[in-house]
Amino acid sequence: MRVLFLAPSYPPEMIEYCRGLAEVGAEVIGVGDTPRERLPQSVKSYLTDYVAVPRIMDEDDVVARVTAALRGHRVDRVWTNWEPLVILAAKLRERWGIPGMSVDAVRGFRDKELMKERVRAAGLRTPRSARAVTADDVRAAAEHIDYPLIVKPIAGAGSANTYRVGDRAELERVLGMMRGVMEVSVEEYIEGEEFTYDTVCINGRPAFENVAQYLPKPLEARSNEWISPVIITVRDLEQAKIQKGLKLGRSVLRALGMGSGFTHMEWFYTPKGEAVFGEIGCRPGGAHLVDQMNHTADIDLFREWARVAAWDSFEAPTTRNYNCGIVFKRAKGQGRISKIFGLEHWKQRYGRFLVEDQLLRPGSHRRDWKQTLVSDGFLLVRHPDWDAAKEICFAAATDITMFAS
Ligand SMILES: Nc1ncnc2c1ncn2[C@@H]1O[C@H](COP(=O)(O)OP(=O)(O)OP(=O)(O)O)[C@@H](O)[C@H]1O
Ligand SMILES: [Mg+2]
Repeated sequence: MRVLFLAPSYPPEMIEYCRGLAEVGAEVIGVGDTPRERLPQSVKSYLTDYVAVPRIMDEDDVVARVTAALRGHRVDRVWTNWEPLVILAAKLRERWGIPGMSVDAVRGFRDKELMKERVRAAGLRTPRSARAVTADDVRAAAEHIDYPLIVKPIAGAGSANTYRVGDRAELERVLGMMRGVMEVSVEEYIEGEEFTYDTVCINGRPAFENVAQYLPKPLEARSNEWISPVIITVRDLEQAKIQKGLKLGRSVLRALGMGSGFTHMEWFYTPKGEAVFGEIGCRPGGAHLVDQMNHTADIDLFREWARVAAWDSFEAPTTRNYNCGIVFKRAKGQGRISKIFGLEHWKQRYGRFLVEDQLLRPGSHRRDWKQTLVSDGFLLVRHPDWDAAKEICFAAATDITMFAS
């Protein structure tokens, strides 16, 4: 089994998927724009070969170069777990006649309007929405959809350039800020709680399912630096409201013709008790969500995904033992972290539930919280009881303060 894996060392957690592939007995050929000599040592040991390309995002160029470089070599599967490369992976599969999701199926997971059209056509509840290219398109769509609404890029990530718009005047301000964004989605604003629905699928059938709650919803977390965003996996998937999300999620997978691999969906639970589709990608969630899922069920999804990717098989137990929470911290001030207040006290109370402490320490440079949800680091905790997990996370959010100067 020879697996071509795109971007094996970036983002850094991709190294873990290469490890998984090597552990389940696949030969891994990496393709990326990191020069061979700059590949991290850790990933080299999992790769049997590596093709360096000048620009990994230049799809036609990568297809041409890799086709030429691998002429005469067998490749059985092509995979990526990084959102910007999912179309490229499908193009390579189609070019070489390799099993896996088609370009058309993957587009349904990449283009936010197309995905909603397909999900809507299956009779599932999605926000009313329209695609818009010019400012006048946006204004027209806004009148049609009505306020409050959301304006966001068609192929966005990380809530970048995503705005809630309350009225016409606000829309004009947002249009000013969005100059340079080519194509946007204009959407009905959905009130309510926001959750994920994550899977590892084998030929469209979920072998593993997960739900996590965003506290608060990502748009708020990304708009306010003072917030310490919390995300907690939900241990008990049997609750009625969570079941509504699972049902929606499974129907979405069918509507979009999911094949094999990870999916990461976002959905809303409205005050009226309705589950509403948000968006979905055919790749894992970022910002350590896979680590959270691993700690929830005491499994290794990096390896289990690899087993699916290479052998269409998932062997890990799916019993959920914990609610696993992550708390991202953002320091006050600019420059380098100078001190952390409250951490020791928090650890005295809750240290036994701590799984990982990855907060930046004094001396480290602050990260850009707008660019990375991970911000100035995180604490990962877990507890079998939901309310306790939430209390532990919220205590870390409010009682720990990082300073920079
Ligand atoms: N129709 C909507 N109603 C209410 N909130 C919305 C809506 N669309 C987006 N949001 C908010 O904006 C956030 C970002 O939107 P979306 O998930 O579509 O974009 P994204 O940039 O792909 O996000 P990310 O990469 O962070 O998941 C959502 O998580 C949600 O909090
Ligand atoms: Mg999103």
